[in-house]
Amino acid sequence: MTKRKPIKKAVFPVAGLGTRFLPATKVVPKEMLPIVDRPLIQYAVDEAREAGIEQMIFVTGRGKTAIIDHFDIAFELEATLREREKALAILEPTHAVPGHIIAVRQQVPLGLGHAIWCARAIVGDEPFAIFLPDELMIGSPGCMKQMVDAYDDVGGNLISVLEVPREDVSSYGVIDPGAALPGFDGRLTEVKGLIEKPPIEQAPSNKIISGRYILQPEVMRTLENQEKGAGGEIQLTDAMARMIGTQPFHAVTFAGRRFDCGSKLGFVEATLALALEREDMGTDVRAMAQRLLRE
Ligand code: G1P
Repeated sequence: MTKRKPIKKAVFPVAGLGTRFLPATKVVPKEMLPIVDRPLIQYAVDEAREAGIEQMIFVTGRGKTAIIDHFDIAFELEATLREREKALAILEPTHAVPGHIIAVRQQVPLGLGHAIWCARAIVGDEPFAIFLPDELMIGSPGCMKQMVDAYDDVGGNLISVLEVPREDVSSYGVIDPGAALPGFDGRLTEVKGLIEKPPIEQAPSNKIISGRYILQPEVMRTLENQEKGAGGEIQLTDAMARMIGTQPFHAVTFAGRRFDCGSKLGFVEATLALALEREDMGTDVRAMAQRLLRE
């Protein structure tokens, strides 16, 4: 039974320039690049819906309108498909209830914390989720559903974490984990501290923030006067760190697979892994990959 008010809103920061994927991202937003046949953003939105989230708030920038168009009804396309008696089911995940797709602009790239703060008027005074779509999380149930289940128990603020090799910690937000809570297979722990992109020797653990958050609305007020942090950017991690001690803060270790689609290698890995699992093409992809490796 749900003990808490359900999380109904999610913020997707998608204003980034995607420079690592140029020239592909000169015109096409990085979030619209497909993993097999679904754009990256679709995976995050599907994960949100599975967790019961209804309202998707995209923090976009110039040249990113394709993301919003993707979740609109493509009238001409759908009429043509209907005429040709082609199945429209494939487009279903791209449809949204009117009013459930919202876009706000981040006019200047001041950092992730600033991007989230740009959504404050839409988020209002309720707890909300955040998805960083670069992080492709594949699980059953999905990462946010796992988090929502834990949130029902502990409330407060919750982030998903996973372990990476120690030498990689400096690319991420890192947690200082406290005691594990009973239940949840030991995957739910308190968070005692958070630090964004620490030098390896200063990292309190090898557990990194993996791009999914459930936060209380107070974070918006904390972000309001957040100073610049790592990389000269307004960091969400720094604002969250300031909330520890004033509100409950927990981390859930994600049970599933994560692909870092912000890097080319991660993107190729995700494409191959998901293609291999597809019922309609997995066998052929396996045979093709084996042939390529032999050549
Ligand atoms: C952001 C967050 C960081 C998190 C990471 C996950 O960093 O600031 O805490 O670990 O996403 O991908 P970015 O990748 O935007 O530098």
